[in-house]
Amino acid sequence: MPSILITGANRGIGLELATQYSAQGWRVHATCREPMFADALKAVTGDVKLHRLDIEMPIQIHELAKGLAGEPIDLLINNAGITANTKTSLGDMDYALWEHMLRVNVMGPMRVAEAFLPNVAASQRRIMLFLSSRAGSISDNLSGGRYLYRSSKAALNMVVKSLAIDLIPKRIICTAVHPGWARTDMGTAAAPIAVEASVSALRQLVDRLEPHHNGRFLNYDGQELRW
Ligand SMILES: NC(=O)c1ccc[n+]([C@@H]2O[C@H](COP(=O)([O-])OP(=O)(O)OC[C@H]3O[C@@H](n4cnc5c(N)ncnc54)[C@H](OP(=O)(O)O)[C@@H]3O)[C@@H](O)[C@H]2O)c1
Repeated sequence: MPSILITGANRGIGLELATQYSAQGWRVHATCREPMFADALKAVTGDVKLHRLDIEMPIQIHELAKGLAGEPIDLLINNAGITANTKTSLGDMDYALWEHMLRVNVMGPMRVAEAFLPNVAASQRRIMLFLSSRAGSISDNLSGGRYLYRSSKAALNMVVKSLAIDLIPKRIICTAVHPGWARTDMGTAAAPIAVEASVSALRQLVDRLEPHHNGRFLNYDGQELRW
């Protein structure tokens, strides 16, 4: 069966990805910062391997990559991410938080992609999916504000585009996806889309991915988004 590695798999979209892919019979490498407290993830049945991974910690990324050396990973999902609702507007900016967000939302996914590149390259499907956001679309920004999150996801989009080009020789498909506004801790209870529906649509999208999707920015329903 194919295998998947997910970052931030203890809650939200990451947990639902682990649940649904495991139910489909995939081998799931589910990573999270605190496995000891990941009760919901531990309750997921199937071929689920739990690993400690804080994507802000290069040493943890390299240790895990060493541990999984030689194991093909068909689908690498860079899901872990953070946002902030305060101290992100003009005149009231938390620059330390901004640096932290860039480390988690931009440098973390890049480091994970670099570290597990040999695993993905050795697999059948060869897909890297990056959870981006429409909030990171420059064309779509009609309301301003949200400097920290918007800039981090815009930077992530650029990382995905360069990776997509650099990895053409390895025939790896790199795609940035917007999961929809989904009901998670980040999305809040006000979000219109159930996390199950978002992830189910993301899985269908993954099944449809072809080489021409490499380096694209896609909505969870497969629709192309403007950068
Ligand atoms: N939900 C939405 O409506 C929405 C919309 C657009 C984009 N997205 C994107 O989709 C992704 C998942 O969002 P979500 O809604 O599931 O968010 P969430 O419910 O807040 O979950 C975020 C996950 O990321 C993990 N995480 C945070 N910092 C980490 C770090 N340094 N290392 C490893 N894991 C870390 C969290 O782990 P802890 O439990 O340890 O904090 C948690 O598992 C994010 O990249 C987000 O930006 C979400």
